Amino acid sequence: MNITQTYAKTHSEVTKLLTNRVILVTGASRSIGAATAKLLARHGAAVGINYYNSELAAHQVVDAIASEGGKALAVKGDVREIHQVETMVQQVTEAFGAIDTLVINANVLFRIAPFLEHSWEDFEAKLLGELKGAFYPCKAVVPSMIKQQKGCIIAVSSIASRYPNNGFSAHTTAKSGLDGFLKSLALELGPYGIRVNAIAPGLILTDALSSTSQEWKDNTAQMTPLRRNGMVEDVAGAILLMASEEAKFITGTYLPVNGGAQIL
Ligand SMILES: NC(=O)c1ccc[n+]([C@@H]2O[C@H](COP(=O)([O-])OP(=O)(O)OC[C@H]3O[C@@H](n4cnc5c(N)ncnc54)[C@H](OP(=O)(O)O)[C@@H]3O)[C@@H](O)[C@H]2O)c1
Repeated sequence: MNITQTYAKTHSEVTKLLTNRVILVTGASRSIGAATAKLLARHGAAVGINYYNSELAAHQVVDAIASEGGKALAVKGDVREIHQVETMVQQVTEAFGAIDTLVINANVLFRIAPFLEHSWEDFEAKLLGELKGAFYPCKAVVPSMIKQQKGCIIAVSSIASRYPNNGFSAHTTAKSGLDGFLKSLALELGPYGIRVNAIAPGLILTDALSSTSQEWKDNTAQMTPLRRNGMVEDVAGAILLMASEEAKFITGTYLPVNGGAQIL
């Protein structure tokens, strides 16, 4: 049995952890976001599937969820644009009720290059894109979370925010900024019953890595204590744990999902 089959078997047998929850996942048309949306829906949540360019893929995620009896709605929007974010939050709220959980996942692309080959424009696009993609969705959902006196915000950071890699300076800097933002929100929003946590994947096999070499992936697997590359379902599982009520006293944390490849 391969790991995907193992996940599928497990999910058909588990108790639902997110009944009556309303969740928005940014960047949910593909990869980590799509796997997360499907898992959260399987656990009973109604899920807003945010997409930017991949409309067809987003509708396929919605269809996959509906085929299992779950609830989902595809909502288009660029997470770096406040008005588009507000519109998609409104669409999800009208369809399912107030959003109680936000998963900040959209992948703001960046150039992999040595520092001296970076222009400020490359850097700025990643830094601002990453931070806007967290700031605007939070800005749009936190008021109703405060009204409900509960909420959960989970952002997909990266192990690279604490463990730099050659060529990844834009990514590391942007994700470090994201971590700081999340810690600040955890502090300020805790009194309203809102939890804020970071999930920090290591190398995960997604579309984003399609141009990287198989040799690099194999070497990474060999150097990883759990001896394999990460799968999108590994990150989805960590997000589910953080979203569930079982994690109700956990906030302000940073959870690596990397098979132990970098032990902090
Ligand atoms: N893969 C890894 O090894 C890895 C490691 C550490 C951290 N992460 C983090 O995990 C998250 C997901 O990464 P991934 O590898 O799953 O990415 P991916 O395969 O590149 O998928 C990107 C997703 O983000 C969406 N997206 C991109 N720009 C957007 C925008 N401006 N507004 C709304 N949605 C946007 C895409 O939507 P459309 O296709 O609809 O445009 C797509 O659904 C990212 O935050 C990434 O930094 C990934």
